[in-house]
Amino acid sequence: MKSTGDRELMSRSQFLRYCAAGVVGSCAVATLGLQSCSSVPMLRAQQVQSELVVPLSAFEHTMMVQVERTASLPADILVVKDGAAFRALLMRCTHKGCQVQAEGQLLVCPCHGSEFSLSGEVLSPPASRNLDSYPTRFDGTQIYIRL
Ligand code: FES
Repeated sequence: MKSTGDRELMSRSQFLRYCAAGVVGSCAVATLGLQSCSSVPMLRAQQVQSELVVPLSAFEHTMMVQVERTASLPADILVVKDGAAFRALLMRCTHKGCQVQAEGQLLVCPCHGSEFSLSGEVLSPPASRNLDSYPTRFDGTQIYIRL
């Protein structure tokens, strides 16, 4: 992104990513229950006390969990299978807080182009910090994400 005085200009590729993110995001808005709007299945998770519950039957390799937005939970959560365990990543960019989008094996921020791995590690700046994550546990049928 270029800066001209107090305005910032977006490159063409950044603009296209931003528009694509909007299309995917608007697909997700009307979601109730399990839906697949892109390559990542989406689920509105049930929250039980301080945990989100994701049924294993709904899970593939990755799953986007939609959440009720709060100050402490400002973005959806991506759940990724990691061997026998599960990783839960807050899809909020650590640069300036935009919602990160899953694109194949990358997590991409549509605002300024930061890229993260599926483990949440920063691959491309301007973000300098890995995505936040939540502890998970698995009881054989459900994945629990501790908030
Ligand atoms: Fe700037 Fe994500 S908010 S790269």
